[in-house]
Amino acid sequence: MSSKDFWDQRYTTDEFVYGINPNDFLVSLMPKLKGKKRVLCLAEGEGRNAVFLAEQGFDVTALDISQVAVEKGQRLAKQRGVEVNWLISDLADYVFESSQWDLIVAVFMHLPPKIRQQVFQRMPASLSFGGAFVGEFYRKEQLQLNTGGPKDLDMLYCPEQLQKEIQPLECFHLNVINREVIEGIGHTGMAAVVQVMAIKSEK
Ligand SMILES: C[S@@+](CC[C@H](N)C(=O)[O-])C[C@H]1O[C@@H](n2cnc3c(N)ncnc32)[C@H](O)[C@@H]1O
Repeated sequence: MSSKDFWDQRYTTDEFVYGINPNDFLVSLMPKLKGKKRVLCLAEGEGRNAVFLAEQGFDVTALDISQVAVEKGQRLAKQRGVEVNWLISDLADYVFESSQWDLIVAVFMHLPPKIRQQVFQRMPASLSFGGAFVGEFYRKEQLQLNTGGPKDLDMLYCPEQLQKEIQPLECFHLNVINREVIEGIGHTGMAAVVQVMAIKSEK
């Protein structure tokens, strides 16, 4: 089954699989993200983070491979009275344009290594100077916990590798923690995560 079919099937339910509330780590960073304007949310699914960011006054673009997810996100944005620019795209094909974003958000974006590395290689050039990359991901240790995330070790994260892959962005936070993630039926329980906020230096 293709990745698109897998995710479309997963999202074909009335319920929001990852809930309608934003990711806890993203919310905690809001005071540090003041002044950023143009935001791209990668692998954004049903739009919970994009809608939240639009409510905070950001200009938000949300990208996902799943049309079903994007349609749910569009409904959520309408209900909440905010505008989000939606893109249905495979990250393997997405073109990152130069200095286009002040903030890039990736919450539980778990991709095959080749696509992940390509995204992380291309992403820094599309941030403005001083721009930030923010993400939270399951670590490889999550496999034993069984509370969400892919079952494929290669799609889970190793913090040191993440730090290397997003260079030249400089990590401002790289939190390696176990925390209770209660974010929809898809993410529920004690989880092994890595949280990152990295900056494109003005030097
Ligand atoms: C675990 S969900 C996280 C969704 C959202 N970020 C959230 O936290 O609610 C992972 C998302 O990655 C998307 N995805 C997987 N492979 C992708 C690809 N190649 N290109 C774009 N999106 C992809 C899926 O459709 C899914 O919405």
